[in-house]
Amino acid sequence: MSQTMTEKPSGFCFELSEDHKMVQKMVRDFASEHLAPRAAHYDRTCEFPWENVKKMAELGLMGVTVPEELGGAGMDSLAYSIVIEEISRACAATGVITAVQNSLGEYPLMAFGTEEQKKKYLPLMARGEKIAAYALTEPGSGSDSASMQTRCELQGDHWVLNGQKNWITNSTGAEIFIVYATKDPDLKHKGICCFIVEKGWEGFTVGKHEETLGVRASGTCGLTFENCKVPRENLLGVEGEGFKIAMQALDTGRVGIAAQAVGIAQAALDNALRYSKERQQFKKAISEFQLVQEMLVQMAVEIDAARLMLYRAALKRDSGEKFTKEASMAKLYCSEVAMRAALNAVQVHGGYGYSKEYPVERLLRDAKVTQIYEGTSEIQKLVIARELLRD
Ligand code: CAA
Repeated sequence: MSQTMTEKPSGFCFELSEDHKMVQKMVRDFASEHLAPRAAHYDRTCEFPWENVKKMAELGLMGVTVPEELGGAGMDSLAYSIVIEEISRACAATGVITAVQNSLGEYPLMAFGTEEQKKKYLPLMARGEKIAAYALTEPGSGSDSASMQTRCELQGDHWVLNGQKNWITNSTGAEIFIVYATKDPDLKHKGICCFIVEKGWEGFTVGKHEETLGVRASGTCGLTFENCKVPRENLLGVEGEGFKIAMQALDTGRVGIAAQAVGIAQAALDNALRYSKERQQFKKAISEFQLVQEMLVQMAVEIDAARLMLYRAALKRDSGEKFTKEASMAKLYCSEVAMRAALNAVQVHGGYGYSKEYPVERLLRDAKVTQIYEGTSEIQKLVIARELLRD
């Protein structure tokens, strides 16, 4: 997959362009043939889905917005959102792996990297030869990222990193880590620097895999830095401006998580529709009962609205304008819709929905984290309020 998106949809009451529809069909067909059949396996085993990643790399899905000359597909954020939605509709763990690679991994390099850094790392990431992770969160700093304690100190030609990170998606598969550390915690966000750290560097270890409720194959681990030497040229962006890189990366990341949530919600509706037409009670399909229809309708209406909010955030990003508010609004709403849709899908399935025989219990577990990672719903509300009051 490699193309330049020339045709843009106009306004928000739109149909996708032919280019975007092509991407949607291609990824939908691929995901239902290759990703969906293995989603339960990866959920059960928590294995990092290398087979999925390899196939997605062949299709250009590991570097959707990276320019073609740097090995990417050179597409826009709307295409990226469609890709993440379709992947997540089949396998939400694979969805977040792809989202982190594209947004939290590649975006900071594209936006803040030097020419050398871009040439060295982006082609490897965009071609899926190396997986990326984003290390911001720490045991003591989740929502309050600026209070991080991981230290960085310049010693001659190297920065030296010491500290701990946790809940780092992609860690078991990643070889490139975008790591945030502070010169001095008292400087709060003004002391934070961003580094490109490679797996295998002395003093850097990936901890044990975390057993999570959902997206269980997302390779989530803690990281430890003990006098880890990072070459000076691997500082990303300007010293002391790492927090802005982190926040801008999260703006793009939140569009990806909104897309993941829409994908999970759509999968919930797909399953609820299929099951309600098959399942007979009181001598008719349960889809004929209006109380069941009410749940299906609520899901369908909310998913439509969520998808429009997602597309709006992606289009705003593509326009080059600030899209912090739209990204947080989309993430907040789409993740709520994913949770409600997954709950409704379980309810439509009754007792079977509560068992591992059907995928809807997995969708419910997967949906929950979309309200937590890349900023909790409460943090999205805070960001939206600040943006509203700033206008
Ligand atoms: N873009 C650019 N700059 C931004 C920005 C943005 N979106 N948001 C804030 N900034 C800038 C501000 O302008 C300010 O700059 P100045 O000093 O020049 O004025 C600076 O950053 C500090 O901003 P705030 O005062 O707003 O910072 P804060 O400490 O109050 O924090 C926050 C704001 C919104 C709460 C932020 O800390 C936040 O988003 N927290 C949630 C963190 C999060 O999402 N963590 C998830 C990590 S990733 C993950 O989930 C796991 C994974 O692997 C996928």
